[in-house]
Amino acid sequence: MYKATRIIILTTGLILAAPGIAADKDPNLKLIKARQGEMQLRSFNAGPLFGMAKGKIAYNAELASTLANNLATQLKLDMGRAWPKDTDNVAYKGKTTALPKIWTTYPDIAEKGKAYARAVNELAAVAGNGLDALKSKIGALGKGCKGCHDNFRKKK
Ligand code: HEC
Repeated sequence: MYKATRIIILTTGLILAAPGIAADKDPNLKLIKARQGEMQLRSFNAGPLFGMAKGKIAYNAELASTLANNLATQLKLDMGRAWPKDTDNVAYKGKTTALPKIWTTYPDIAEKGKAYARAVNELAAVAGNGLDALKSKIGALGKGCKGCHDNFRKKK
């Protein structure tokens, strides 16, 4: 009896573990996670900037400058390796919201990236100079994120 139970447990364990092992072995899943993590970091930095501009949180020059400069520092990351072909939301359903269009219309997404980078750099230059200065550049930042998401990311 003891032996039989043990075998059942072991077998069940193996069956449950198998898909996990297979998933871990696909290196593209790590790449997808990495690029999503980088996007989460953009959100972490941009969130309070949008909040200050909308009056939802108090303007703080030092924090505004730090966060906008963090976004500018992120621009220096070369994340190209995290975006290999065939890692779109058709091939990796439920794992990514990246549309196949990213690759079929390339370099269109790079153009969106350039517009975003311009917005980030312009914001970083003035974000610490007062709420009005922040407000004058925050719209372009929002458009920078949205301009790319509307085109290249699956809507929820
Ligand atoms: C040049 C295109 C582009 C720009 C600019 C861009 N994003 Fe993204 N973003 C994407 C794509 C594509 C995805 C889908 C990634 C995936 O699921 O593999 C994404 C996903 C995300 C996600 C979801 C990540 C997850 O965990 O699934 C967040 C949050 C995000 N972006 C925030 C931002 C913010 C905030 C900005 C601006 C400050 C921004 N993005 C600018 C293309 C862009």
